[in-house]
Amino acid sequence: MSIVITDDFALALARAPIAAAIAAARLAGCGDERAADQAAVDAMRAALNALPIKGRVVIGEGERDEAPMLFVGEEVGAGKGPALDIAVDPLEGTTLTAKAKANALAVIAVAPKGGLLHAPDTYMDKIAIGAGYPAGIVDLDAGAAENVKALAKAKGVGTEEIGVCVLDRPRHGSIIEALRGAGARVHLISDGDIAGVINCTKPETGIDMYLGSGGAPEGVLAAAALKCVGGQFQGRLIIRNEEERARAAQAGIEDLKRRYDLDDLVTGEAAFIATGVTNGSLLDGVRYANGAVHTHSLILNAATGTVSQLRMRQPVQN
Ligand code: FBP
Repeated sequence: MSIVITDDFALALARAPIAAAIAAARLAGCGDERAADQAAVDAMRAALNALPIKGRVVIGEGERDEAPMLFVGEEVGAGKGPALDIAVDPLEGTTLTAKAKANALAVIAVAPKGGLLHAPDTYMDKIAIGAGYPAGIVDLDAGAAENVKALAKAKGVGTEEIGVCVLDRPRHGSIIEALRGAGARVHLISDGDIAGVINCTKPETGIDMYLGSGGAPEGVLAAAALKCVGGQFQGRLIIRNEEERARAAQAGIEDLKRRYDLDDLVTGEAAFIATGVTNGSLLDGVRYANGAVHTHSLILNAATGTVSQLRMRQPVQN
């Protein structure tokens, strides 16, 4: 079977998050989350529409917090080229951007049509670890302490050497307590769980596991990244009310209690691309110098196994 998303093609797709990151970064620190999000959405839509693809948005983050979004089902691309499913998070870290804090990203994942779960914009319980462990070593349905102990044993270290990334939210109070009780080091983040998951694959971050609930769209995007670089991810939708039940039904999800493994969330040979908006653990943010705008992107391609970083400098458009 021929590769649909080649490395050159993935490079071309990077135009979309790069455009979104530049647009959002102009509003970094402006205190207006919505304006930054809207700028990223508009720029990403324009960039996607200039690409030689027949794309369909299957994940357009935004309904959960009534933010601007690329609509699910929206056709994007110049209409020629491969049929692709596209998951977007034009601005991952709206609050981070509004406050000019670290770790905001612009993100897309693409796969040949049918390759990405159409996750509704609800919350999702998530657990993730990096590559190199036996399948099923951690389990979404096990306790936090149990997972830390299992991972420490598999890694051949004490639990005090296990770092776990968790979103700093009151809803995670008992998980954080259990993790600390088991001896793990808890890395609390204020936002941005896509980077939180990816950091499990980067030993230099000291993060071995991601645990807790966050957006389901962000879950699929993070799973797409792990599909490219290796690792394990399990997730389950959290459906809190009728509106979310309807969203899940609209996305074609019948079993609301289903536990999704990585290969259920991302069935195709996906590519994942992120561009830094503000400086962060994963990428540098957008920077202006000498009349040019500098961007830093991560391009992961499951079809080829290629991991690339792209530093681009473009003249500033007035
Ligand atoms: P936004 O950029 O849409 O604000 O999302 C940031 C984020 O931190 C995600 O990374 C995460 O999945 C989600 O919000 C968690 O939601 P909440 O802030 O409601 O706990």
